[in-house]
Amino acid sequence: MHYQQMGRTDFKVSDIVLGTYKFGARDWGAVNDLDSLATIQYCVDHGMNLIDTATGYGMGRAERLIRYALDEGEHPRRGKTRIMTKFYLWEDADDEAIRDVSPAMQRKFLTGSKKRLGVEKLDIVLLHADDLKTPIETAVEELAKMQAEGHIEHIGVSNYTLEQLQRAQKVAPLQNYQPHFSLLSRGARDDGRLDFCRENGISIGCFGVIGKGLFAQRIKEAHEFPNWDHRSRKFAGPEFEKKKRINAELSKVAARHGKSVTHLAIAWVLSHPAITFALLGFSNPAQAEHNLQASGFRLSKDEMDECESIVVEGLK
Ligand SMILES: NC(=O)c1ccc[n+]([C@@H]2O[C@H](COP(=O)([O-])OP(=O)(O)OC[C@H]3O[C@@H](n4cnc5c(N)ncnc54)[C@H](OP(=O)(O)O)[C@@H]3O)[C@@H](O)[C@H]2O)c1
Repeated sequence: MHYQQMGRTDFKVSDIVLGTYKFGARDWGAVNDLDSLATIQYCVDHGMNLIDTATGYGMGRAERLIRYALDEGEHPRRGKTRIMTKFYLWEDADDEAIRDVSPAMQRKFLTGSKKRLGVEKLDIVLLHADDLKTPIETAVEELAKMQAEGHIEHIGVSNYTLEQLQRAQKVAPLQNYQPHFSLLSRGARDDGRLDFCRENGISIGCFGVIGKGLFAQRIKEAHEFPNWDHRSRKFAGPEFEKKKRINAELSKVAARHGKSVTHLAIAWVLSHPAITFALLGFSNPAQAEHNLQASGFRLSKDEMDECESIVVEGLK
């Protein structure tokens, strides 16, 4: 496993980090908890030293699963990995979504996440998104206050625009930023967010890297997902057909390295100097085993450009 410095912290983080969105069992069809537990344990046992989660991933379900996975068995995995969680999404008693990063709600998230994860102090907490009602300054100030009080080691934000990032960084130094960034979604680079983070010593862990399976060796079709999996709508239609052809072209580039298209898509983001780690979701240990082989794999600038032009041309 390859490790890189996380911004200006003293933490060397694996360049591939397990994301647990799917383990929350919402929007991703049926999820087998035993597979989820085995996947978390496999990742920790194979050197992944950070796990990404959020209060909103199954409204606490993913956070609880992480605790069970780390504490289960004769050789508890506590201490072998850090956990990054995100505050923003919850549900009220009527199952209505609450999107709230107000100071009062952040305090509730803090208490709840500590309990669900079974820790006294949270390793890394990000504000998952702007809730469109709490000013950025107020939200970040509260997060930084909890850090200063010793409840959180490192702080950051996710899904912020460049302007929001700039405002947040003026309130308190951020240690991590989590944007959507991939071969198919390059906005964070094009609008200057990656450069801003690099200039300010903010590490980046990005999601969307393998397009939820669009950059898999065998791409599933819409009918293979139950209708409560968001991919049952996305993996169909003319755009999807274009993406399948892009996958085939990129596979040829990957083959030159003896790698799969999944590895190539991961290497493409990791080869950008602003990216510290790729966040990836796995359904089972076998997927993790395959994708982990991209750790340390990097592309030259020419190869990155070649991949990007395959995508740009393929989407025309
Ligand atoms: N901050 C945010 O707003 C935000 C948003 C989204 C995600 N995230 C984070 O990023 C993580 C990754 O999410 P993502 O949306 O980017 O998902 P992703 O990693 O692009 O997709 C995960 C899915 O890809 C498929 N897959 C992975 N490896 C495979 C392999 N070797 N062969 C075949 N299929 C494979 C699996 O599909 P199957 O289910 O079909 O097996 C898996 O469930 C999340 O868990 C979360 O931690 C953050």
